[in-house]
Amino acid sequence: MGVSNLGYVRLEMQDPAAWAKFAKDVLGFGMAKSRDRQGTKYLRMDKAPFRYMIEKGETDRFIAAGYEMSSKKAFEEQISILEKAKVAVTRGDEKEAKRRAVKGFASCMDPSGNLVEFYYGRDKQEPFTPGHGIKSFMTGKMGLGHLVIPAPENKETIKFYTKNMGFGVSDDLSLPPFAEGFPKQRIYFMHADNPRHHTLGLYNFPSPSGVIHLMAEVGSMDEVGYCMDRVKAAGLHIFASLGRHSNDEMVSFYFFAPGGIGFEVGYDGKQIKDWSKFKPTKTTSGDYWGHEYDMPVVG
Ligand SMILES: [Fe+2]
Repeated sequence: MGVSNLGYVRLEMQDPAAWAKFAKDVLGFGMAKSRDRQGTKYLRMDKAPFRYMIEKGETDRFIAAGYEMSSKKAFEEQISILEKAKVAVTRGDEKEAKRRAVKGFASCMDPSGNLVEFYYGRDKQEPFTPGHGIKSFMTGKMGLGHLVIPAPENKETIKFYTKNMGFGVSDDLSLPPFAEGFPKQRIYFMHADNPRHHTLGLYNFPSPSGVIHLMAEVGSMDEVGYCMDRVKAAGLHIFASLGRHSNDEMVSFYFFAPGGIGFEVGYDGKQIKDWSKFKPTKTTSGDYWGHEYDMPVVG
């Protein structure tokens, strides 16, 4: 199977230092040494050399997801699958691979215009303890968490990730339109080759920030609660109250991180030990309880 997990994400921020400070003070992430001279902030969640790359730029936006492949062989196979499917793939050069702390990586676009990176051979692991008494983030072989990205070219994008990138289907969630006159909302959840219920979700609408949300999972309910207090103290807007999702059973809340990046912090996400016995679900309700939305009114 293709992708092992979500290994890193790249964000562009006008003020990377401010985002790094937020990540440390609110989330409990750590700082890694910088790997370039462009002011990029590298953030850690676990033993991996880094999980978030915050790059200096003109805008605040999500740039790319970086997916881990299990080996050089799996990486090369992934490139040939994409090339056979007539997807334009670019191999990253040595300098850019170094910036990502990997032996090799390649990139392409999905049909909705999201930048996809995949790599093999990550630099060696180093000990790490998160801040704020968080024992550890639920990461390791399950990757840094999950992400939901905009996929207005819905059918083609689903096909791209399931057929070309090797993701498995977890849940196909349909929700009523968010306003009258709009089509129904759909979030298509997929898993990589690890127990996390979903690593990637595709939402059938565009998003100005380039991402719907990123998720970090902690190991206890109290750690979620303490984080919620820190989010409030930092004056960040919580856009979904505490609640439990019905598909991955995660108890979580959502808020806007600096730069308008949707962020979910959760606990107790479902893990599937044997995907061969799993039957993908189709659901019409996102939550067992909670997750009351409070979206800021735009315009
Ligand atoms: Fe989520």
